[in-house]
Amino acid sequence: MPQIGLPLGTILIAGETEQAREVLERLLRSQGYRVLAAADGAETLAVLRTQAVDLALLDVMMPRAGGISVCREVKSREETRLTPIVLITGSGQADERIRGIEAGADDFLSKPLRKEELLARVKSLIRLKRYTDELESAETVLYTLASSIEAKDPYTEGHCDRLSRYSVALATQLGLSELQRVALRRGGMVHDIGKVAVPDQILLKAGPLDPVERRLMEAHTVLGERICAPLKSFRQVLPIIRWHHERRDGSGYPDRLRGDAVPLTARILQTVDLYDALTTDRPYRRALPQQEAFATMREEVRRGWWDGALVDALEVMLGNAPALVASPVKAGRTAARELVQSA
Ligand SMILES: [Fe+2]
Repeated sequence: MPQIGLPLGTILIAGETEQAREVLERLLRSQGYRVLAAADGAETLAVLRTQAVDLALLDVMMPRAGGISVCREVKSREETRLTPIVLITGSGQADERIRGIEAGADDFLSKPLRKEELLARVKSLIRLKRYTDELESAETVLYTLASSIEAKDPYTEGHCDRLSRYSVALATQLGLSELQRVALRRGGMVHDIGKVAVPDQILLKAGPLDPVERRLMEAHTVLGERICAPLKSFRQVLPIIRWHHERRDGSGYPDRLRGDAVPLTARILQTVDLYDALTTDRPYRRALPQQEAFATMREEVRRGWWDGALVDALEVMLGNAPALVASPVKAGRTAARELVQSA
């Protein structure tokens, strides 16, 4: 294939002998790929940190670090974890494959490499990387939008990030699935994204809202769900966005769901949302100490609003991991308003 226009993708070849690298390099270049090479583990990590690589082919027998430990390192770093990795193993080395899977490798090729198989794997993994990149961009847009809403009010700084962390920690303690934890991480960031459609004079109003203003504010749940709905990877996040203001006695919004009809993930988010609002400063009062916050939450559990088991679990979690509690941050005036309004 002639190399005209942009390359089909950038591939890093790491390990192997210089001679083997050159053969691979020629083959992949002839197919229209841009090719980078690294001799050992340290060089591989340096290239992956500094260059946009769409696929890495790592020889398990790579000098110094070894392909499997390099793979583990790449997959554990936030900035490189989505780079697909193909481990090149010796033939019949089942144990290497098992260790490679545990290290997060995306695929394997056995020596001697067969041209057709190599090119087919490369093509499909690079296509997958393209989809992941597109998905990442869409997520980034949503997070940026959510942050812009948070930034409207200097008191809300860090609120979404804390919600994300507390929710995931609570979900982990309760033994929720990876899918639910990911949904909560995302939900913590974007649960109030619908506020983008709420006028600033309502969002930042110091006094109580009139009935029309209140309806507009409450619509942030439905609007937020609509904004995130086109993203398939956010399917599990939509119930959190729509129902994070429901209450067990049916007095919440937007659908007046009762009891366990409110999904567990939405109940987890609302529990930590409430805790965060109570333990940070509000325009009209200082942050409550942790014990007082839990006393208030239990009072509201008795009124039939929140899930008492989750309030207990949150208290246990914070008792076991005090470091999770962020340093005092000024509270969200807007987050506080929602909770006050729904009270
Ligand atoms: Fe909200």
